[in-house]
Amino acid sequence: MISLERLFLFECGCSTAPNGQVFSRKMSAYHRRTEVFLMTTRIVQVTDLHLMADPLAELKGVCTRTNLHSVLDILRRDFGSAERLIVTGDLAHDELRETYEVLRELFGDWLPKLRLLPGNHENRDDMRHVFSDRVTAVEDRNVFTDLIGGWRLIGLDSQLPGEVRGNLGEFQRDWLARELEVEPLRPTAVFLHHPPLKVGTGWLDEIGLEDSERLLELLRRSPQVKFVCCGHIHHEMTITQANVLLLTTPSTSVQFLPETDRLVPDSVPPGFRIFDLEPDGSFRTRVVRVPIVTRTHP
Ligand SMILES: [Fe+2]
Repeated sequence: MISLERLFLFECGCSTAPNGQVFSRKMSAYHRRTEVFLMTTRIVQVTDLHLMADPLAELKGVCTRTNLHSVLDILRRDFGSAERLIVTGDLAHDELRETYEVLRELFGDWLPKLRLLPGNHENRDDMRHVFSDRVTAVEDRNVFTDLIGGWRLIGLDSQLPGEVRGNLGEFQRDWLARELEVEPLRPTAVFLHHPPLKVGTGWLDEIGLEDSERLLELLRRSPQVKFVCCGHIHHEMTITQANVLLLTTPSTSVQFLPETDRLVPDSVPPGFRIFDLEPDGSFRTRVVRVPIVTRTHP
């Protein structure tokens, strides 16, 4: 079956995602109908699931399995038409293969739309084994690049095994540079676990991305990158610095109070992030908070 993306490019005779203005001048009525059909692409990001094989296990007083059930219930009820579900790390807090198998079961009908990245709490090999059809390996890293709705979505692997802080490494940064050079006019979003900018909470900034300056240099000379989206800090932020827009997203599990000198759990509900992407590179985003429904058998 020809995907909508393929159909869109084929009908317009383009090899790259076109600028919306040029597009509307050149298209026939039929093409305009096609464009309207593809006007908005909705994607969902969830992060920091911290799932454990024990269904009753808690992290800082939060049953991460119960929380994830509640999040997935809302996703299926209200956002089931989203085209992608991007998970930006800390999937398995206990780093057990069994936990990834549970997670695969829980995602269920989302699997074809799923894109996964590792966080610092991860077993990269087990993640790759259980989600072998959902993960792409570049050298030893689990990454993805995905074309949808006129956009390129790129996922980076910032895990530094045995460490809480992150690192991309030269090989992966070179891979990213090549990905960005392929279609420099196509609107692009970059996802990774560790934020590449300071978030203003000292203890979290100490466990950020080690080679962030090298990544930022690359992003600043790639204006097609419209935003960078991360997890790791377990709370929502929007930061703009020198033409780089960073969005962070609440965890589906425990929340961290910002601007503290140590980890302090916050009482706000868990959440996830919705993006509505337009073919011209504009987008809208918001965080959705989820009330937790306690289950007798999580
Ligand atoms: Fe986390």
